[in-house]
Amino acid sequence: MTDNIYSERIAASLIGNYRQYPVMFDHGDGVWLWDKKGKQYLDMAAGIATSSLGHGHPDLVQAIAQQAKDLIHVSNLYCIDRQIELAEKLKKLFGQGKSFFCNSGAEANEAAIKLARRYHHVCLKKPRDKIVAMSGSFHGRSVASVSITGQEKYQQGFGALFGPVEIIPYNDIDAAKHSLSGYDICALIVEPIQGEGGIRVPDAGYLSSLRTLANETGAVLIFDEVQTGIGRTGCWFAGQHDLVTPDVMTLAKGIAGGVSIGAMMASDHHAQGLALSDDGIVPHASTFGGNPLSCMAALTVLNVIERDHLVQHSSDMGIYMMQLLTELSKDYPLLFGEVRGRGLLCGIDVKQPVRDWIIACLEQGLLITAAGAQTLRLTPALIVQRDDIDIAIERLRHIATIQDKKN
Ligand SMILES: Cc1ncc(COP(=O)(O)O)c(C=O)c1O
Repeated sequence: MTDNIYSERIAASLIGNYRQYPVMFDHGDGVWLWDKKGKQYLDMAAGIATSSLGHGHPDLVQAIAQQAKDLIHVSNLYCIDRQIELAEKLKKLFGQGKSFFCNSGAEANEAAIKLARRYHHVCLKKPRDKIVAMSGSFHGRSVASVSITGQEKYQQGFGALFGPVEIIPYNDIDAAKHSLSGYDICALIVEPIQGEGGIRVPDAGYLSSLRTLANETGAVLIFDEVQTGIGRTGCWFAGQHDLVTPDVMTLAKGIAGGVSIGAMMASDHHAQGLALSDDGIVPHASTFGGNPLSCMAALTVLNVIERDHLVQHSSDMGIYMMQLLTELSKDYPLLFGEVRGRGLLCGIDVKQPVRDWIIACLEQGLLITAAGAQTLRLTPALIVQRDDIDIAIERLRHIATIQDKKN
């Protein structure tokens, strides 16, 4: 890649926590992005499963512009129409529950942990503290959410973490049974499909067995649907593939097409965990969470997904993309390994360093991301079409041909 002409300014002004690729985007349209030099890229990342309607979607742009004119922010000290409408819409899609709005996935998981703790401490008056989470999981970068993340690399260097937390193997129901057998677990948190951990789809029946286990032991079952939710996997929520309803569900990323918002939904019963105290003390809150602008963006995204049948489309396009990725893997067995995923959350294992692949893709005008140490992740906008997928696979194939000759 060319030298990063921004590196000096970045080094002088930004903290330097990110490992950025030397490209800066200028504008986008649908699944396409253009960088500052005018080069065009096919965006098969969508900001890591976030720009669910692609770039510059007219309905979203119009709704945000109108809402910005009307009202951007008011405090949660007052009632907010868009917030109520969004909560009602989510309740309809999820089939139950009440919402709390925040600004990110990590914050949604923080809220879920606080709700579970307070549910046991205050509502049931039988304190339980321990959170059980899964190896290979990812739940965010705040102290609590990184503490329940089952990957040590995200925890190193920060000293004492939040606890108690027990990490058990993912997709291992016996391990979960063993861990919950003491009837002392506060909550069990799981991604219905692991995203950052390498696009891991659990066995059929795993999520429903966790549901049964949580019912039997009184642990709060939390599904982290930050990456899998809002149509990404071909259902509104990935738990729905297995007909499993968690007690608490967290959302962010794709819900507002790139405008920052997180949501934590809880069953009516579990929602009591964060209800106002009798003495009027507010147990949890957020300044920006649920503001009119982000709620309007989310409402618009949900309405467009529904109107344009994008959940079914995500399923159809996912099947097509998985088929092409599987063919690619078979054609280049020295370069590729397993293909995994559901809907438009797809991963293909690579045998060369994943970062080299991503840079080669950038050079070819293709944006994809890494999920874990050896998996390329494709999470295009839900509006992606077959032709776009064909181009993406063609570009991957082109890189593979060059790589194959080198080997
Ligand atoms: C499953 C999952 N949970 C939580 C998060 C954290 O979300 P955010 O970066 O919005 O805090 C992510 C982000 O990748 C995620 O994939």
